[in-house]
Amino acid sequence: MLKVNQLSIEINGKRIVDGSSFFVPRGRITSIIGESGSGKSMTISALLNILPAGSKAAGQAFFDNKDLLAISNKEMSAIRGSQIFTVFQDALNSFNPSVKMGKQLYEFSGRRIRHSVAEFHLKMDDILNDLGLSKAIMEQYPFELSGGMLQRCMIACALYVRPRLLIADEPTSALDTLLQKEFIELLKGLNEKQGTTILLITHDLDIVAEVADKMVIMHKGKVVEVGNVAEVFERPKNAYTKRLLESRF
Ligand SMILES: Nc1ncnc2c1ncn2[C@@H]1O[C@H](COP(=O)(O)OP(=O)(O)OP(=O)(O)O)[C@@H](O)[C@H]1O
Ligand SMILES: [Mg+2]
Repeated sequence: MLKVNQLSIEINGKRIVDGSSFFVPRGRITSIIGESGSGKSMTISALLNILPAGSKAAGQAFFDNKDLLAISNKEMSAIRGSQIFTVFQDALNSFNPSVKMGKQLYEFSGRRIRHSVAEFHLKMDDILNDLGLSKAIMEQYPFELSGGMLQRCMIACALYVRPRLLIADEPTSALDTLLQKEFIELLKGLNEKQGTTILLITHDLDIVAEVADKMVIMHKGKVVEVGNVAEVFERPKNAYTKRLLESRF
């Protein structure tokens, strides 16, 4: 579904990601794992054409037959609207602090797939309910909700849009362990029930072991190993992967 080939990223002349290649197969959960600063989030930003100012990306990233690094902004917004949905690391910052949640949730979901506001309310109320959120949040502002609730709001939008590819940059400091677990369970459910292909960014090996089929290991801006989770856990090839796995116990 997504094939990244020799992706390199520079920010202000500094090489952040160096020739990384990996593949995200359809219908499965693929995890990118690596320590803080290894270039996981920047990799995602490059794929979505949202790198910070002063950045350059080279290489290719084929989503079906389209190279995400080469398409026009217009094509990219069409793809980002309905086919690729991203839950960013910091959910709070994904929302506009001065706009009520209802309007924002509509922008992130119903509007992207050209549903009317009435249709949106009909469908979204049920989705929120399933996620344990009251529809009263529609009248609230982001700062009135907890980090976990905002994360669930993003998942609600993903459930609504039914993207072909869901990219989730795992929340770190924003959520406590229990909520992180809940977030992962929601992703797993999305994959199982809707067959959504998922690319999950994390630095937690337990999460990889629990949910992912495939893993991509990043270290200092380089992809050092890729493989099936069970195989990599059993027979890691790369020295860094070995160290990483040993650190788990
Ligand atoms: N806006 C920016 N300007 C310049 N350098 C940046 C910027 N954002 C990130 N970097 C650098 O890019 C590198 C990779 O950052 P990135 O955010 O991709 O790491 P990460 O693997 O997602 O880490 P984490 O697990 O902490 O989220 C880091 O060394 C960081 O210093
Ligand atoms: Mg990150």
